[in-house]
Order: sequence, then C-alpha cells, then structure tokens
Amino acid sequence: MENFTFHNPTKLVFGKDQLEQLPELLPDHVNRVLLVYGGGSIKRNGLYDQVLKQLESSNVDVHELAGVEPNPRLTTVQKGADLCKEQKIDFILAVGGGSVIDCSKTIAAAAKYDGNPWDLVTRKVTPETALPLGTVLTLAATGSEMNAGAVITNWETNEKYGWGSPLLYPQFSILDPTNTLTVPRDQTIYGIVDMMSHIFEQYFHQATASPVQDEMCEGVLRAIIEAAPKLLDDLSSYEHRETILYAGTIALNGMLQMGYRGDWATHNIEHAVSAVYDIPHAGGLAILFPNWMKHNVDVDVTRFKRLATKVFDVDPTGKSDKDIALEGIDKLRQYWDSLGAPNKLADYDIDDSQLELIADRAMARGAFGNFRKLERDDVVSILQQSL
Ligand code: NZQ
Ligand code: ZN
Repeated sequence: MENFTFHNPTKLVFGKDQLEQLPELLPDHVNRVLLVYGGGSIKRNGLYDQVLKQLESSNVDVHELAGVEPNPRLTTVQKGADLCKEQKIDFILAVGGGSVIDCSKTIAAAAKYDGNPWDLVTRKVTPETALPLGTVLTLAATGSEMNAGAVITNWETNEKYGWGSPLLYPQFSILDPTNTLTVPRDQTIYGIVDMMSHIFEQYFHQATASPVQDEMCEGVLRAIIEAAPKLLDDLSSYEHRETILYAGTIALNGMLQMGYRGDWATHNIEHAVSAVYDIPHAGGLAILFPNWMKHNVDVDVTRFKRLATKVFDVDPTGKSDKDIALEGIDKLRQYWDSLGAPNKLADYDIDDSQLELIADRAMARGAFGNFRKLERDDVVSILQQSL
C-alpha cells in the first residue's frame, strides 16, 4: 500500500423519513438556499413538496434552478453560478441523482470564481473556496452524494470531464430508499452497472498487499449481484432499494480505495463516448467494461482469475488460469445482459464514424489508466470491440 490520509467529511443520513432532519442539518448561518433539481421527477413523486415544507420550516429564502439535464451541461452550471451571485445564495441543496449533484458541486465552486467554470472542470484553475452544499439523493448510482468529484459536459466542444476538490464534499447527504422507489427500470439497471463498474475500476490496481481492500470490493460486488435481480423483479421493494442505495454510496466514497489508485480507464473512455453521443453514462460502461477486461486480461491473469472464482463462481477445475479469467469476463457480460443492460454501441445507433473523435477526446489528457496505461491504439481497439 502507499501512504494515505482518509478524510470524508460528508454526514450520511440514511433511512426512512430522514428528510425530517433537513432543518437541523442546514448550518445555522444559512439564509438563502438554491434548490437544484432535474427534469421533474421530484415534482411527479412528491419529493419536491416535502423538501419545500422542510425548507419553509427552516426559515430560509428558497431560489430554484430546475431542469438540470442527465450528463449535466456547462451552460447549466453557468446559469446556476449566476443565480448564486445575483441572489447572494449561501447554501446549495441538490435534490436528484448524480447529474443534479455534480452540477450543484460545480455551481458551488463556480459561484466563488469570476472566470469561466470550464477552467475549474479542466483543472486550469484550482478553486480556493466554494459554497457549502447538501444533497437529497434520489437515484442509486454514482456515489456523488459522498465524494468530492463531479462530471460536466461542454456541448460546444464535445468534451466531458470529471474533476474534483475537497471543497466539493457535500456537508450532508440524505438517503431515504423511499425516494428511489420511482426510479424507472432502465435507470435502475444503469445505476447497478455504474456502481459495479466503480468497484471494478478500484479492483484493478497494481498495489501489493491489499487483501482487505480486495475482499471489500468482492463482498460489495457479491451483495449487488445477489440483490439486483431481486430488485428488478420487484422495483417497489424497499429492502432491495435499500441494499442497492447503500452499495452505490460505499462503492465510490473512498472506502474501497485506500492506499492505492484504481484504474479508471474505462470511465475515461465512457466519458469520451458520452461527450460525443449523449448516452447514459452506465449504458456506455456496460458496453465497454467487458471489452476493457478482455483487452487487458494478460496484464495480470491472476487478478482476473480471482474475480472469476470469488465473485462470478467460476469452477476452476481442470482449466488454465487464462480460461478461468476469460470465463469470469463472459459471466459478467451474461449477468449484465440478464439484467437488460446494453452490450454494444450499436444499441445506441453508434457506428464507427466518430471513433477517431472519441479516441481524441479520451486521449485529451494523455495516456491513462493505472492498472495499465492505455495509448490511443488501445482505446480504438476497445471501441472497435464494442461496436
Ligand atoms: O431529471 P429528473 O427528472 O430528476 O430524472 C432523472 C434523470 O432523467 C431520473 N431520476 C432520478 N431520480 C429519480 C428519477 N426518476 C424517477 N424517480 C427518481 N427517484 O433519472 C435520470 C438520470 O438521472 P442522472 O442524475 O443523470 O443519473 P445518475 O445518477 O446515473 O448520474 C449520471 C451522471 O453522473 C456522472 C455521469 O457521468 C453522469 O453525468 N458520474 C458522476 C460521478 C461522481 N460524481 O462521482 C461518478 C460516475 O462515474 C459518473 O461519471
Ligand atoms: Zn460511473
């Protein structure tokens, strides 16, 4: 392991009716709140009214930024930052999924920066301060509710990048599984694929002596793999929503990745795909990840073999390590297929016409991946395998 300092300051408030804690969770000095949400799901399921009620009892002025799009856009960040400056907002409350939270995080920093928010996203500028924010999560997927990252798309340049700062940790996140009961089937599947992919990104690393981290990754994966089909059989199950909601947070709040860096190449390629084609993040991951695995299986066959036997129940008897490893990758593909996830770019009508542009976007910050550094040829090859 490498030396590390772990500090995650987000207060996680989990369970039924926990929204009632909102007035106490808001810091005392807060007077003017920007309520940020997406395209209307919170109005349809009644959460909007419940949040407003809690804010009213907190005696704060409420301003709103509605319509944050999936794959949130720089233009929306700018709109939110302008609102914060004009209205002298002193707290941001994000109510939604990863897109609403990522947009809110970036607004929080942009509200305290006089230049173009894209400078922050492209890491040209490091923020020195940011507005505080809290979240009410409505979709189990990204882990954004308890991490310091955000992903923003610039449609003028077809670029989508992740960025982060310790200033972006939400002060609190309220996670009531009830608020995820209305997540439709396709988004539920995407969320499951996303959280599993986050664990894979962290499972493939070059550290030695990481038995605790490896076991934790495998354990969370097994729990997701068991719960997901049950949830998809009964989308109204509080119990399975609860398991998946908790798993999504644990998968990307830093707990699994202490003492080493995960790979993260597949996320980088997916962000490039969805910067060119506006597809759901985890739809892209479901297509790309098994192909990234096959492309890199020889980097460390024993790691893929371990995944195959410990997570995907591959029987190793009489098989070579490589065969076991490949069977594990096939089992992942079959598992995601069984959930109903997409498995090729053609599922989104994506052909090879923009492959070079996607590869350019993926390479914008140079070779990437910590399990194995990928060059442009690798990216093109993985994309071709994914067509
Ligand atoms: O916009 P509304 O109307 O709210 O509808 C949303 C949206 O259409 C809907 N939805 C959310 N909660 C719902 C609901 N519908 C019914 N009932 C509910 N309770 O779901 C749709 C998708 O929402 P979105 O927030 O886009 O999904 P997700 O949470 O998967 O976030 C995806 C974004 O997060 C980024 C992705 O790249 C993508 O931009 N990521 C952020 C990460 C981070 N900050 O750590 C890491 C991830 O790897 C990821 O890259
Ligand atoms: Zn992801």
